[in-house]
Amino acid sequence: MATSLANTTFFSKTCSLFIHTNSLKRFAFRVPFSSTSTSTSPLPLKKKWRPPAASALELGGVKMAKDDIVRDDPTNNVPDTIFTKLGMQLHKRNQHPIGILKNAIYEYFDSNYPNKFNKFDDLCPIVSVKQNFDDVLVPADHVSRSYNDTYYVDSQTVLRCHTSAHQAELLKEHNHFLVTGDVYRRDSIDSTHYPVFHQMEGVSIFYPDEWGAAGLDATEYAAKDLKRCLEGLARHLFGAVEMRWVDTYFPFTNPSYELEIFFKENWLEVLGCGVTEQEILKRSGKSNNVAWAFGLGLERLAMVLFDIPDIRLFWSSDERFTSQFLQGQLGIKFKPFSKYPPCYKDMSFWINESFTENNLCEVVRGVAGDLVEEVRLIDNFTNEKGMTSHCYRIAYRSMECSLTDEEINELQWNVREQVQSKLNVVLR
Ligand code: DAH
Repeated sequence: MATSLANTTFFSKTCSLFIHTNSLKRFAFRVPFSSTSTSTSPLPLKKKWRPPAASALELGGVKMAKDDIVRDDPTNNVPDTIFTKLGMQLHKRNQHPIGILKNAIYEYFDSNYPNKFNKFDDLCPIVSVKQNFDDVLVPADHVSRSYNDTYYVDSQTVLRCHTSAHQAELLKEHNHFLVTGDVYRRDSIDSTHYPVFHQMEGVSIFYPDEWGAAGLDATEYAAKDLKRCLEGLARHLFGAVEMRWVDTYFPFTNPSYELEIFFKENWLEVLGCGVTEQEILKRSGKSNNVAWAFGLGLERLAMVLFDIPDIRLFWSSDERFTSQFLQGQLGIKFKPFSKYPPCYKDMSFWINESFTENNLCEVVRGVAGDLVEEVRLIDNFTNEKGMTSHCYRIAYRSMECSLTDEEINELQWNVREQVQSKLNVVLR
């Protein structure tokens, strides 16, 4: 199995494959139909919805006017920590690893398919439930639609959890396109997962004369072209690497694949892709065509390509991080400027039936922000009365300075207090 590294694709795979790995939760999204335990009720965190920085409102002008997003809706589960990330657009910074990687991928498409792909990188991340899920055929009971997994602005509006949210609409106007943007997912905390990350989506359609001339069936033709294109992209980014294709599941493609590369002794999942479901094309007025599509997670690739050890670093404004990268230079290896020791704090509590790890992580991040490196379940038991206890180990570590005992104790006290009051659990 490929290394689980940094937020990437979801929706694929069957659960059983991952059930014994510590990354099970990561792949909850990959179950074709809802099955894992996720609460569908909104978080008990009711935050006032505040307008983002002015720039965020100019995001492609796609959706909402400012007044539309100033709201205090009970179905809103977007905390301030996430809200403030809207409009940051790391993928548009040419000297930032995410922007450098985006540009390197553009370069591949520009040189191999001159003037073919339309590029979008400022579509608004606030999209409708229809765009995010229905338009790409995500089943009504799919776990990714839950409040536990997705940020809802209101019951009909979400922070996109994948760039596939734009596929259907763009297909109406364009035949070949790339969409880059920030995507948002409620998740647990460790060095490769962050609730905001970046994806690039690619879509390309074909006409009957193309597969006719090749003497192939439409689907075969698209799948072959897709594989050739993406193998070329992987070589462009990673050089001569060993690759393999793994069959998988996505609601929007059939057949569906993942591309893995053998990198530093591990099979690394690079992207998800497949031949677009005909229903999506039909609804976009392209029923005579066939198409391929892919989606890749930029942080995951950037961590490997630039040797970046912790996903929080992408958000750092510390000059010791930001000054290490240069426009157009994919090969630069990040030199850690210092590594302060982590400090671990354990907390145990009796959970209730609405408890989820994603909710816990959000509360912890709400208090400690990017000082929290990992939240890990280290003990779990149910007593004879049927009460279940969880013990979590929280790793605090600043990437920029050392933290005093006093600071950490204060954080931990606040975390305990907030966990108790917001999640209604009983501390032990
Ligand atoms: N949207 C998927 C995810 O976030 C990635 C993906 C897979 C995109 C297959 C695609 C695709 O366009 O065809 O996990």
